Amino acid sequence: MTVAADAPPRRRGLPYVGRTLAYIRDPLAMMRDQHDRFGQVSEIDFIGKRWTVLLGPDACDVALRNGDKAFASGEGWGYLVGPFFDRGLMLLDFDEHHRHRRIMQSAFTREHLERYTTALQPAVAEGLDTWQPNDRFLAYPALKELTLDLATTVFMGGADLTTPDELHRVNRAFIDCVQSATALVRVNLPGTRWGRALRSRATLEEFFSRHLPAKRANPGTDLFSVLCQVTTEDGERFSDEDIVNHMIFLLMAAHDTSTITVSTMMQHLGQNPEWQQRCRDEAMSLPEHPSMADLDGLTAIDLVLKESLRLVPPVPVLARKTVKDTEVLGHHIPADRLVAVMVHLSHHMEELWPEPERFDPERFAEHRREDKVHRHAWEPFGGGVHKCLGMFFAGAEVKTVMVHLLRRFTWTVDPDYRPPMNYHSLPFPKDGQPISLSAL
Ligand code: HEM
Repeated sequence: MTVAADAPPRRRGLPYVGRTLAYIRDPLAMMRDQHDRFGQVSEIDFIGKRWTVLLGPDACDVALRNGDKAFASGEGWGYLVGPFFDRGLMLLDFDEHHRHRRIMQSAFTREHLERYTTALQPAVAEGLDTWQPNDRFLAYPALKELTLDLATTVFMGGADLTTPDELHRVNRAFIDCVQSATALVRVNLPGTRWGRALRSRATLEEFFSRHLPAKRANPGTDLFSVLCQVTTEDGERFSDEDIVNHMIFLLMAAHDTSTITVSTMMQHLGQNPEWQQRCRDEAMSLPEHPSMADLDGLTAIDLVLKESLRLVPPVPVLARKTVKDTEVLGHHIPADRLVAVMVHLSHHMEELWPEPERFDPERFAEHRREDKVHRHAWEPFGGGVHKCLGMFFAGAEVKTVMVHLLRRFTWTVDPDYRPPMNYHSLPFPKDGQPISLSAL
């Protein structure tokens, strides 16, 4: 490709740190300011490197469509979380990614999703047994514990696999890995997040490697067993090492993303009692253990889910690195450049969404479909070849938790409450998101 375009404008700032602190403080404000002052394609320093940032749906589109195969996911994400999620599906690229994705898709067929959904029902019901009504119930940590328990049941086979103590240790190790993404100190030193996460990765590898032979020999219906068995029509299957890498990545991909989604839904349903009631009426009409088809038929809960993903996208930025010179909207991007695809801003742009800060689930209803304004206006699951492989599983899990919650509890949240978010890795409310929870 002949490249004759201009370099994007560069924002100068503190060396090494650059816009990191502005991002951690308030990513949306940082993105808006960058967009308004420097346009859709610009350069910043961020977590120790120079990055090209893409803002707005047209700029994001170029990297997600990746027409000239210039944008690699592995080295982009690798800079942020590479040592901990090495060789997970999102960190593979091009032919190798295509081969692994084809095999993994066989673990996410409708038939398997129905089995995972069946396993979710008693696990959610049991997890909610520990929730005690309280005027100041901290929803976020309770949801985090619940989704971790669900992951150990549906992903690993839970108690059939090992002891509660070991599961607890594995959960801890996994959380350490996730929390390392925006660490400014990125060396293996004692007492650093980075160093702790490296040791935790070793714990996870040892855990999955030790249990793998039993899963191959005596499979259940959990995802770990399924990954051990799946084979494509051409006879391709995962090696032991692939399975360990994919399991560690899948736990990460599934966990914080689903937790923050349910937590955002709970906040808005607590602030909008009429929507809470509408969703509860729907939840009450389902059988005790809803099937995948029952969950697919939900309307109000689906609208609230979509609007919550718009307001707080669990993955606000997608990371890439250019493997060759390329061009985005007339700007030259050299090879070897880290690229931040900032989808979060698109979800809040006034040019795309009327009253973008307002909770208005109906905007996704058939008669409005505001998301159709641009193919990348709403992109919580990403786009292109790396689009979330677990999005239907995520939908089933989030809706299952919601249905069970609505049937057991009612809750309120102060209408003026705005969660103080932590953006060190994926977003979460620092105050634990207090709600007033009552039994129904
Ligand atoms: C609400 C919950 C979720 C959200 C918002 C979400 C979001 C995303 C996003 C944005 C990506 C693309 C990243 C990129 O292009 O750089 C992604 C990839 C991925 N997600 Fe999810 N995710 C969710 C839940 C899940 C769950 C539950 C699973 C597994 C059970 C999962 C598995 C994956 C996998 C395997 C990839 C990599 C796909 C590839 O590279 O081919 N995700 N997810």
